[in-house]
Amino acid sequence: MPGVTPQGERMIPPARAACQAPAALAGRPFRPSGRLACDTMSDRDERIAELEAYHRDEVSGCVRCSLSEGRTQVVVGSGDPDADLMFVGEAPGYHEDRQGIPFVGQAGQLLTSLIEGIGLSREDVFIANVLKCRPPGNRDPQPAEIASCEPHLFRQISLIRPTLVCTLGNFATKLLSGRPDGISRVHGHELPLVIAGEPVLLYPLFHPAAALYTRAMLSTLEADFARIPGLLAAGPGAPAPAVPEMVAVGAPAAAAPGAEPEPTGEQLGLF
Ligand code: URA
Repeated sequence: MPGVTPQGERMIPPARAACQAPAALAGRPFRPSGRLACDTMSDRDERIAELEAYHRDEVSGCVRCSLSEGRTQVVVGSGDPDADLMFVGEAPGYHEDRQGIPFVGQAGQLLTSLIEGIGLSREDVFIANVLKCRPPGNRDPQPAEIASCEPHLFRQISLIRPTLVCTLGNFATKLLSGRPDGISRVHGHELPLVIAGEPVLLYPLFHPAAALYTRAMLSTLEADFARIPGLLAAGPGAPAPAVPEMVAVGAPAAAAPGAEPEPTGEQLGLF
């Protein structure tokens, strides 16, 4: 029978098989959601199972850095393991450490309402952090902690395969862009990148904890959020036209006149 092996298994149609070969980034076929059109059901199921196993075996009991000594539990991440849209924050705070869920404190409530404001729910997206364990007193993540923890985030991105990754604040933005530019300078400017081997559109946003302090920052965050549905529809290879490029590494970091000040560590006390 055509399309069936001698053992009776269904064969992958040649067009789909061709899709699964490594392809140039440009011209890759995306569904309207941004997901690869040839992403088969079994591939999806395998990625979800692998993510679950990775979280269970490598993240939940992680002792790569000393933050493991003070945590209540690891905050792995939450949401749809096959999400097109991923948010990456900084680190769990007090409430996240207690509940084991990211963004459940005041900043998390704001993030949830912003997500709902664009017609999505927390279950539609995946929410993670640069650090999976709470730093004592919500202090800034230290470089060695970020270095220890980053393989977890990159693995999550490679298995979830989001098309749009919204970084919340400086730490996530600098880690995933690989650039030193501060969030006040680059927020709202999407950047097509390949992260963990996957094409993604990186979209830096102010951290919601910082926006809780400053009305102007909240308005900016809301305006930046409003562009998310359009960016999701465009997919990772197609940045919207007429948007300034993210500043290149090494460019002078002078703030534009009237630019918002960089959010401070103290502001993020509202974790
Ligand atoms: N809660 C989180 O999970 N991450 C943050 O960055 C802030 C609050």
